[in-house]
Amino acid sequence: MREAVDREIRTMKFRSSAWFGPADRDGFIHRSWMKNQGLPDHLFDGRPVIGICNTWSELTPCNSHFRRIADYVKRGVYEAGGFPLEFPVMSMGETLMRPTTMLFRNLVSMDVEESIRANPIDGVVLLAGCDKTTPALLMGAASCDLPAIMVSGGPMLNGKFRGQDIGSGTSVWQFSEDVRSGAMSLCDFMDAEACMSRSAGHCMTMGTASTMASVVEALGMGLPTNAAIPAADSRRYALAHTAGRRVVEMVHEDLRMSKILTRAAFENAIRVVGAIGGSTNAVIHLLAIAGRIGVKLTLDDWNDLGRDVPCLVNLMPSGKYLMEDFYYAGGLPAVIRELGDMIHQDALTVNGKTMGHNAAEAPCYNRDVIRSFQEPLRADSGIAVLRGNLCPDGAIIKPSAATPELMKHRGRAVVFENSDDFHARIDDPNLDVDEHSVMVLKNCGPRGYPGMPEVGNMPLPPKSLKKGITDMVRISDARMSGTAYGTVVLHVAPESAAGGVLAIVQNGDPIELDVAARRLHLDVPDSEIERRRASWEPPEPPAGRGYCKLYYDHVMQADRGVDLDFLVGASGAGVPKASH
Ligand code: FES
Repeated sequence: MREAVDREIRTMKFRSSAWFGPADRDGFIHRSWMKNQGLPDHLFDGRPVIGICNTWSELTPCNSHFRRIADYVKRGVYEAGGFPLEFPVMSMGETLMRPTTMLFRNLVSMDVEESIRANPIDGVVLLAGCDKTTPALLMGAASCDLPAIMVSGGPMLNGKFRGQDIGSGTSVWQFSEDVRSGAMSLCDFMDAEACMSRSAGHCMTMGTASTMASVVEALGMGLPTNAAIPAADSRRYALAHTAGRRVVEMVHEDLRMSKILTRAAFENAIRVVGAIGGSTNAVIHLLAIAGRIGVKLTLDDWNDLGRDVPCLVNLMPSGKYLMEDFYYAGGLPAVIRELGDMIHQDALTVNGKTMGHNAAEAPCYNRDVIRSFQEPLRADSGIAVLRGNLCPDGAIIKPSAATPELMKHRGRAVVFENSDDFHARIDDPNLDVDEHSVMVLKNCGPRGYPGMPEVGNMPLPPKSLKKGITDMVRISDARMSGTAYGTVVLHVAPESAAGGVLAIVQNGDPIELDVAARRLHLDVPDSEIERRRASWEPPEPPAGRGYCKLYYDHVMQADRGVDLDFLVGASGAGVPKASH
């Protein structure tokens, strides 16, 4: 009894003490049930409790190795005198979930936020890999603002198909178009399946998962080299171990997320996304994360900050290599070092050191993979934000993935009212389309689909493919896979289902795209636009109940990060009322 009372006096330092500290009925309940897991009494002596937030799932193949990663995090936590407790949250597998993982990103963020706040957790290690798992965990944790480190799961090893390197997603899109044009047999296409995904890990192109893992490092939320170590490389597990050690120190230092996720950190991340030729999905995810931590970030910041950033990383889909090559070439620290003054060198990171310190000596071992600032892969990188009557609240395009000749283009619209309409007609030989047409897809935005799926990189019509056409201007309110490429205008806001001008575009309307002038214009008289809008009727809501209804009623547009309006901001990590 005397020991228990002493413990209560000793243990009021961290929030977990509110559960495990008291020598009373509630303290008994909190400790006793935990002890059924074989946890000895000394673990409840007031040491920092570290939650390990795990998105492991066999339905999320990119994260299927996460229980092993969690074990390595635990080693580090124990070694530093902490008490690790692993907990699951809903996982999101990009390839299987329908209608789209993006519909559930905000739901998972709520799961993360409430799981952390409701439990005796003093610091947290976030395990994420597949696309949406990274922003969801950062958003949820940011709304609690405890000390946190993210450990990414790491990319798969390079795909290997008949002597060639092939990349997740990017090569699928290419092969699929080759099958449709007759350049590849269906048998060869099927053979490539197992050759593409041959180890644990997430997509190994510079798609959304690799981009967001790089964002984690650029924000300072991950340890140096977090972005690129392959999932199959033993150093991924050493990094997990180190993260476990470090998060215990962060709790002692009270190094909360808000001390790392400053405006400077977001500016660094935007510039890094430009330099790596990163995914357009990073735009909405960073806007949403900033909204949770109270940093003012807008779509225009992407345009302004990314404008002069050259693309330095020669990875698919903008270039030719893959993440394994990126790691061997030096990984993200080499890119950050190369960006020099474009990076806020004094931004703090989770290892307690600055961005500049971490990258000061970063070597580059392969200049074809990581180019120098003076000789970049492409000078025009970053994300271009377009404005005009077709997108008064903005739209985006990724210049490094687009065809230079199409960056200034005027063409007649070929309109698809929704994705079903697109699939029903795109292969029709009588479709009135040619290579100068502008393909327009409606009702695929945050509310329209719902969930803003990655369908913006519409496959080209077979009649164009057979002529050898490899790119056309495409416009939608949808997103695009980070592994995809093309002259694709995305995230049109307001979306068509919310009554944006996109909703009233008709076949044959002239559309002008001018990326250099950041302009997207529907060349139809204002009076005609107003006439069409007056007779426009919104589509039926997709659901009358459940999470889909909550999402539909509260989701914000792409320029606001597609978060739910009531989730913006943070509620901190105050200790809730007792449950008994
Ligand atoms: Fe999981 Fe690409 S499908 S990262």
